[in-house]
Amino acid sequence: MKSYINVGMFGMGHVGTALFRLLKENRSLIDNRIGMPIRISKVVVSDLSKNRGVDVSGLNMGTDPDLILEDPEIDVVVELIGGVTLAESIIRRALDKGKSVVTANKALLAEKGAVIFPAAYRNQGYFGFEASVGAAIPIIRTFREGYAGDEILAFSAILNGTSNYILTHMTENGTEFDEALGQAREKGLAEADPTLDIEGIDAAHKLTILLNLAFGGRFDFSSLYMEGISKITAADISFTKQLGYRIKHLGIARKSEYGVEARVHPVLLPQQHILSSVNGSFNAVSLTCKYSGSSLLYGHGAGPDPSASGVAADLIEACRSIIAKQQPRTSPVNVPLKSWLPMEIVSMDELQSEYYLRFKVMDHPGVLASISKILADHSISIRSAIQPGTSAEGKMVDIVLMTHQALESQIQSALQAIQPLDFMAAESQLIRIGG
Ligand code: HSE
Repeated sequence: MKSYINVGMFGMGHVGTALFRLLKENRSLIDNRIGMPIRISKVVVSDLSKNRGVDVSGLNMGTDPDLILEDPEIDVVVELIGGVTLAESIIRRALDKGKSVVTANKALLAEKGAVIFPAAYRNQGYFGFEASVGAAIPIIRTFREGYAGDEILAFSAILNGTSNYILTHMTENGTEFDEALGQAREKGLAEADPTLDIEGIDAAHKLTILLNLAFGGRFDFSSLYMEGISKITAADISFTKQLGYRIKHLGIARKSEYGVEARVHPVLLPQQHILSSVNGSFNAVSLTCKYSGSSLLYGHGAGPDPSASGVAADLIEACRSIIAKQQPRTSPVNVPLKSWLPMEIVSMDELQSEYYLRFKVMDHPGVLASISKILADHSISIRSAIQPGTSAEGKMVDIVLMTHQALESQIQSALQAIQPLDFMAAESQLIRIGG
């Protein structure tokens, strides 16, 4: 008869340290909920000399994965190292050894879900990945279990806390992108490589995981359209604010008559839209289901403590399964793996949207006429045009156009035709209008 659950942890960075603290501070509550104590007995890290700001005396720490993976006494492996290659090897070996696994690794599940989920299903243990999307927001359970009897028709989500923090900071303070990114890094929100956040890759990883749960198919991360926020300027924020919009970075998914639309990019939302008031590093998922209608899930989607909270929830569920001697033979996605088949995403060229376009031009007679003519030649109708700020003949000025619904392929080809014109002083800006 076991007297405690033995946990081996890979990685003790910001999230690992927060989890260690959470388990210590919440020990009696958690032991009570499980009915048996949990003990983190071994930790594998890449750098043993790093000061983690917590008391690690009594922990068996090492750098060799075998310390945990070859120990038959370890019941649950918690993987918090991130990245794909080493994490994949650790998780697959742990699963093969019959251990339960808890991970927050969105990149791994998005890029290697096709092998990790089946491996988890074959394994005897519990497999939890709640903190991989939305950190402390119970979005994985909600999509997989909460809406199991309903049909998810569409969702729009703020999935990257760093991008949301940066856009909020720029909106509230009128700052440029680089200054806002510096603030996000100081707060410890951004990934070690912030490119993942600001180029939309992290949000696309999370959207891929949600697509797998929402639409009962297997989606290929590399076929998702993704665009980040690094090209949004203080001017875009200011002009769109004057027009009654907020710029948000969204993951968008929708069932349409053509298939599943899925994409990640900045969006102009009317300021009354429910996601427009989701600010700072908060995440939110706004979804529409066939029977339950509209719902909003909102909470902290980034940061060590919220992530630790999501990981701890999975860890507790893993421990409960071990004590109950349950073999969770249900699929980790929301359909049996034999019917978890590749599902195509509708080509971005087919998207119909309204657009915000900004052109930085030399102020000469005929510039607006030339741009409008090319747009008209591509069947793009202008809804409104403004030339904000002061302008003077021969000086640079911004022209902002809002279009009616147009086809993405037409917009892209119009912009390609406009860009080489000699009055263009910078790359044009395009933001899709949503809501
Ligand atoms: N860098 C991520 C974010 C952390 O900003 O959302 C949580 O996955």
